[in-house]
Amino acid sequence: MNSYYGKSFIAINQITSSAEILQLFTTADEMKKNVEAGIVHEPLKGKTVSVLFYQPSTRTFTSFVAAAKRLGAYVIALNEMTSFSSVVKGESLEDTMRSIRQTTGADLIVLRHPEDNSSEIAASIQEAPVVNGGSGTADHPTQALLDLYTIYNKCGRLDNLNIVLVGDLKYGRTIKSLAQLIAIVSKKSKITFVSPEELKAPKELVKELREKVDVAQKTSFGHALEEADVIYMTRVQKEWFEKEGKLEEYERLRLKFIMTPQMAEKMKTDGIIMHPLPRVGEIMQEVDSNPRAAYFDQMRSGLYVRMALLKSILVK
Ligand code: CP
Repeated sequence: MNSYYGKSFIAINQITSSAEILQLFTTADEMKKNVEAGIVHEPLKGKTVSVLFYQPSTRTFTSFVAAAKRLGAYVIALNEMTSFSSVVKGESLEDTMRSIRQTTGADLIVLRHPEDNSSEIAASIQEAPVVNGGSGTADHPTQALLDLYTIYNKCGRLDNLNIVLVGDLKYGRTIKSLAQLIAIVSKKSKITFVSPEELKAPKELVKELREKVDVAQKTSFGHALEEADVIYMTRVQKEWFEKEGKLEEYERLRLKFIMTPQMAEKMKTDGIIMHPLPRVGEIMQEVDSNPRAAYFDQMRSGLYVRMALLKSILVK
């Protein structure tokens, strides 16, 4: 049974089992095979997918557009919602969503938006399924899917993983979604959060995770580097400091954790380094040639996983 069919995908806690994840990963593997072999596979022919972004994006936007087009959908892609749509004139998210459904006949809407509950609002006011392409500081569920797909392919398992999440754990949405997903689907795994004191993961999240998984919190790497299966670096998110008038704090914290080639060499030989990207100095470019650097493959996984998700939602 396809558990994604006809449903919005707005939060990572909608996933309830590893079986659901493995089902999606099997479809992602098929997508990868097709793309690599140049096989045209267009199960979404006749469907319309609207991709609406209210925040900047390189990877999520282009991979959703590419995924929908490769599957044969008609795609309406707007990545400048806050400068060239009626949002500039003060239109509400609710009215924009109603309008897009009417004007494009969208069968599915992908939304990135600065408000935490934006995808829930969008899904509540119109019938087409909504896929969350990143909402506020809370959730980036499709990023978590592609992150876990990368981990599964590189580490060869979902269980018994030692995962170290580093950087801006306060504002970063990718680590929150990935940590929640690990807690839901992975057995006997450990999550270690490494961040400056000011950028610690929210208390409620840590409390919720501790009910399901072993969690440690640190302000320095300690032995985490040597013990990790996965080091997941993240950017300190300037835009949220700017919004709160805290740019001095941003300058003080932005490069507290930098992955250097020497640090990468201290990791297990089969350990991997991940990053949702963009990076702004927290992984040195010299690390890119280290066999542990997995962030470019991670980015590529986004195409296959998003193809799998779109197909699963729109085709029975
Ligand atoms: N990882 C990620 O969300 O990147 P973009 O902001 O470029 O989409």
